[in-house]
Amino acid sequence: MSIRHFLDLSAAGSDALAAMIDDAVTRKSARANLPKGARDPDGPLDGNLLAMIFEKNSTRTRVSFDVAMRQLGGSALIMEAGSTQIGRGESVADTARVLSRMVDAIMIRTDDHAKIEELAHYATVPIINGLTDRSHPCQIMADLLTLVEHGKTLQGLELAWLGDGNNVLNSILEAAGLLKFNVRIAVPEGYDPDAEFVTAARKNGARVTVTRDPVEAASDADVIVTDTWVSMGQDHAAPKLAAMAPYQVDNTLLAKARPDAVFLHCLPAHVGEEVSETVFEGSQSLVFDEAENRVHAQKSILLWCFGKL
Ligand code: CP
Ligand code: NVA
Repeated sequence: MSIRHFLDLSAAGSDALAAMIDDAVTRKSARANLPKGARDPDGPLDGNLLAMIFEKNSTRTRVSFDVAMRQLGGSALIMEAGSTQIGRGESVADTARVLSRMVDAIMIRTDDHAKIEELAHYATVPIINGLTDRSHPCQIMADLLTLVEHGKTLQGLELAWLGDGNNVLNSILEAAGLLKFNVRIAVPEGYDPDAEFVTAARKNGARVTVTRDPVEAASDADVIVTDTWVSMGQDHAAPKLAAMAPYQVDNTLLAKARPDAVFLHCLPAHVGEEVSETVFEGSQSLVFDEAENRVHAQKSILLWCFGKL
């Protein structure tokens, strides 16, 4: 079997994504009464070691991968890029070859997606994308799990995205094409989603609309999703924040969606900017289930990478 890198959702394909979501549901419910640090009884990754490289900040990705490895019977180690030789310019190629001799898989959070592709090219162990400027596939696995858990059928689902056309949206678009749901995107001019992801989603059978009108996108949606208006590595430019203001997810906008619609946000949130406090704290908000599900989704991703799914 060739090495299973999880650089983007398309690397796995739709059948594998569905299997990962199913496995996450099963594994999560099977350990409902266990302490969070306890190992799953079957310990499928017994003895395996994951290295996590961070070139950007993280709370959820860092902790969820660590917890996921412990629950699967393995362990994880954290490398803050700034305190390693990567931070002093050691090449990606050499880093990949060295770490491949010491650990069983590598998760990396970085800026340029080309770096993760280079890492995968030289590594002889699976590489997992823990967020790049281009995409955030692990996050979307947790989002899909959260929707399924809350009774949503992914096929034909109407998902509205409000705000910035960013890395998280790119991965949503990839998921839409693979799992056949529809995405209505409302973003200000100049912040459109990546055309490559829109085209691919449409080609794969998803209906994708891009509008400047937040109400048009939100109307009758099953789920409303937003994210920070300023991603890591971007400037806090005042013109961008001003352009984004009409796209805040507030009660008026949420009321346009279906009565059983849910709200997702990958976090960290800037309450009062991309989402109002009433929506964030309201009964339709699933943001903390979504955050918890990072653990359960990472476990499925890891199992897939290790050829156990
Ligand atoms: N959602 C997410 O990836 O969170 P962190 O930046 O805290 O990892
Ligand atoms: N779009 C955000 C996601 C953070 C989890 C960023 O890239 O900073």
